[in-house]
Parts: sequence; structure tokens; C-alpha cells
Amino acid sequence: MILVTGATGTVGRALLRRLPVGVRVRVMARDPGRVPATRPEVETVAGDYADARSLDRALSGVRTAFLVTTAVGGRDDERFLRAASGAGVRRVVKLSAAAVLDDRADDLITRWQRASEEALRGSGLEWTLLRPRAFMSNSLSWAASVRSEGVVRALNGTAASTVVDPRDIARAAVRVLTEEGHGGRAYTLTGPEAITPVEQTRQLGRLLGVPLRFEELSREEARAGLGRRYPEPVVEALLASAERQRAGAKAGVDAALPSLTGRQAGVFRQWARDHLDAFAPLTG
Ligand SMILES: NC(=O)c1ccc[n+]([C@@H]2O[C@H](COP(=O)([O-])OP(=O)(O)OC[C@H]3O[C@@H](n4cnc5c(N)ncnc54)[C@H](OP(=O)(O)O)[C@@H]3O)[C@@H](O)[C@H]2O)c1
Repeated sequence: MILVTGATGTVGRALLRRLPVGVRVRVMARDPGRVPATRPEVETVAGDYADARSLDRALSGVRTAFLVTTAVGGRDDERFLRAASGAGVRRVVKLSAAAVLDDRADDLITRWQRASEEALRGSGLEWTLLRPRAFMSNSLSWAASVRSEGVVRALNGTAASTVVDPRDIARAAVRVLTEEGHGGRAYTLTGPEAITPVEQTRQLGRLLGVPLRFEELSREEARAGLGRRYPEPVVEALLASAERQRAGAKAGVDAALPSLTGRQAGVFRQWARDHLDAFAPLTG
């Protein structure tokens, strides 16, 4: 039995759609009613990292678990791993982040992901780490201004990053969850090309058939915008991460993804084409 957490989120949702028929799957969610419907044989169970008993129930009979945590600075990983050890789980596949490998990355989010990885490696369980670069889907945060004004506003318009398609992360997760031989392995998952926000804007505009304008945000404007969505320590971590992108730290392509999935990693243009509705001007 494979337990999938984070199934109402970006990667977990894509993973759920791709797990092969015949594999026994249980999905843990705080509100199982929000789990997207897939196959009738997929079990759902209520579970919250903050509730140890719910974790015990969710992990009973599970052999392999896919772990997604998002509470930066929190101890959800530790709580989940304690329950997983108690339940006799064999292996945990954790969604981490590529930044953990960057010596210059010392922001709150990266320190938290490193500590969570350490907790897994020290848990006595078998482990596999998936370390993606920034998701292509982060550009959905541009959708509102693209729709209403034809504008993308972001930091570091000319700094490239090998952003990765979350569907590829899900494909990699399917492989490591369903195959042997991935215990004790860590995979850095990048897109196939380093692309700048200015170029992403140009590609989006071409697909939409309208010229989009890119407006470079100052650090203070970015801080104010992020502050409307995240607590202050997370905002500072995101700004530090953006600074590393400006310095060129995120432009490397890693071969792990195509080697795991047996196909080329998807390019931004394709991701954008498949999500164009989110950016298209409202009509009617
Ligand atoms: N975005 C990026 O560019 C990027 C890049 C590298 C790494 N990452 C890493 O990827 C992970 C996030 O993945 P994602 O974007 O797929 O997730 P997401 O879309 O943010 O969704 C988070 C998921 O976690 C679940 N969750 C949150 N708190 C929970 C709790 N207390 N108990 C049980 N479930 C809980 C949510 O379920 P509910 O339905 O209950 O809310 C949801 O399914 C993070 O660890 C992040 O650091 C992200």
C-alpha cells in the first residue's frame, strides 16, 4: 500500500492521476472531501500532521509513503516519521527542494527542508528524496495581472532558472514509489532549459496571441506583494531565494528527471499551453 499526502496540492494531485492501475493507494488529507476523484479503489483517510492519532490510522498497513509538508519551520516531518516508524512503514519518499544542495542557500525555507531531510535520513526508515527546482506552476501567480492588464510583474526578469513542470515531478514520484532500487537516493529535478521571467512572459504572450508587458519589481515592491500572501520570515526567505536566482544559482540542468522517467522533461512553453485558460482574458 502506498500512502499519498499532499494530494490536494500541486504535485500530489498530479501524482494521484499518474499512479498506475493495480497499485494499492491510500490518500491522506485534512479534508478527504477535497481529494480529486480518481479510481474508485483509491482509499481516502482523514489525517493531519498535527494529530498523531490520525497519522497512526492513515499509516496502518502502509509500505511506502509520499510525504509533502509545507509548514515552514514546523515539525510536521518529524511527527509523520515517528508515526511511520511505529506503523512499520518501509520507505518514505519526501518532496524536498533543490536549494538544499546550494552552499549559498541559508534562508529559512532551505534550512527547514535540510532539517526535514536530516530527520528522514536519521529515522531508520528507508528514504528517497526528490529535490525539485521552482515549479513552472508558480507563474500562475501572474495570472490575475495577465488577465486584467496584460502585465507580468516579477523580480529579476533577466535571471534564468530551470523551472520544472510539476507533472514531471509527479512522473518521477511514480517511478520511485513503485520501483525498487531508489532507497537511499536523492534526485534533483529540473526542467530541460534555463528560462528567464522575461522569456516566460514572451512565450505566454505568443500563446495567448496578445503582447504581454514585463515590469520589473523593485525588492520593496516584491516584499510588499509577497507580504500579502506569506508571513514575514517566509517573505524574507523567498527574497533570499530570488537573490540566488539573480546570482545565477538556479540555471543548472540535471539529468535525473529524464533518466528516471524515460522521457524529456517538459519545457515551459508546453506547460503554459496546457494551462492557458488560467491566463486568458475573461470574455463574455
Ligand atoms: N513551489 C515551488 O516552486 C517548490 C520548489 C521546490 C520545492 N517545493 C516544495 O514542495 C512542497 C509543496 O508541494 P506542493 O506545491 O505540491 O504543495 P501545495 O500545493 O502547497 O499543497 C500542500 C499540501 O499539503 C497538505 N497539507 C498542508 N498542511 C497539512 C497538514 N497539517 N496535514 C496534512 N496535510 C497538510 C495540503 O492539504 P490540505 O488540503 O489539507 O490543505 C496540500 O495537499 C513544499 O515542501 C515546498 O517546499 C516547492
